Amino acid sequence: MTDGRSVEELVVGVLGGTGPQGRGLGMRLAAAGQRVLLGSREAGRAEEIAAEVADRALAAAAGAEVSVRGGSNADVAGAADLVIVAVPYAGHAATLADLASPLAGKVVVDCVVPMGFDELGAYLLDVPEGSVALQAAALLPDSTVVGAFHHLSAVLLQDLSRPTLDGDVMVVGDDRAATDLVQALAGRLPGMRGIYAGRLRNAAQVEALTINLVSVNRRYKAHAGIRVTDV
Ligand SMILES: NC(=O)c1ccc[n+]([C@@H]2O[C@H](COP(=O)([O-])OP(=O)(O)OC[C@H]3O[C@@H](n4cnc5c(N)ncnc54)[C@H](OP(=O)(O)O)[C@@H]3O)[C@@H](O)[C@H]2O)c1
Repeated sequence: MTDGRSVEELVVGVLGGTGPQGRGLGMRLAAAGQRVLLGSREAGRAEEIAAEVADRALAAAAGAEVSVRGGSNADVAGAADLVIVAVPYAGHAATLADLASPLAGKVVVDCVVPMGFDELGAYLLDVPEGSVALQAAALLPDSTVVGAFHHLSAVLLQDLSRPTLDGDVMVVGDDRAATDLVQALAGRLPGMRGIYAGRLRNAAQVEALTINLVSVNRRYKAHAGIRVTDV
């Protein structure tokens, strides 16, 4: 999966890395010294955004070497060691179905939330497989799918005036080595911990909790995250 390499040595790719969540994760990880590849449906757009993200990460890097490059989602899926999926739910299945081959043998981290909005606010969309992470696992039989990074606000991730984030990352998955790796990756975000939160069949609750956080945010004008106590 990662040939025994530690998390610091891995190149992290982000599919849909041009959006707020992908940019935010990419920026924080790059500032911590992680090599990052941002993917897009248009390689040129990813290259432009990668340059901006690299500049911002460098300003916050405290001496760490910063490496952020952009490319097509397919190129990023092929070149990265570990890949985060940060496309909207509407594009999730089609994006992954196209990339099953370059993603084979890799850890794929899904942070996609199946969320709709109506006049009552945010609500959970029905996912036929039971959760977005299980949909990913069905589409990527030769990858190791982990769910994580659902409860992080893209606004706070990108706000480098806050050097430290405040929250935990719930990590779900069936492969212990993969969940350990993603917990370690989450721990590279300043102030955050990765907390194992169950098997992949429990991803639905983790995804759905994001809807509650969005409701908190709307009522309290906040960017709420979660902390797991007594761990
Ligand atoms: N924003 C948050 O605070 C937050 C927090 C937790 C989880 N998430 C999850 O993270 C994911 C990304 O969130 P975001 O706010 O960054 O989303 P976004 O801006 O709507 O989408 C991210 C990127 O995905 C690409 N994209 C858009 N439509 C697509 C489609 N139909 N098929 C494939 N790619 C498409 C776009 O990149 P290109 O046009 O360059 O291809 C876009 O920049 C979502 O699934 C969301 O549920 C977000």
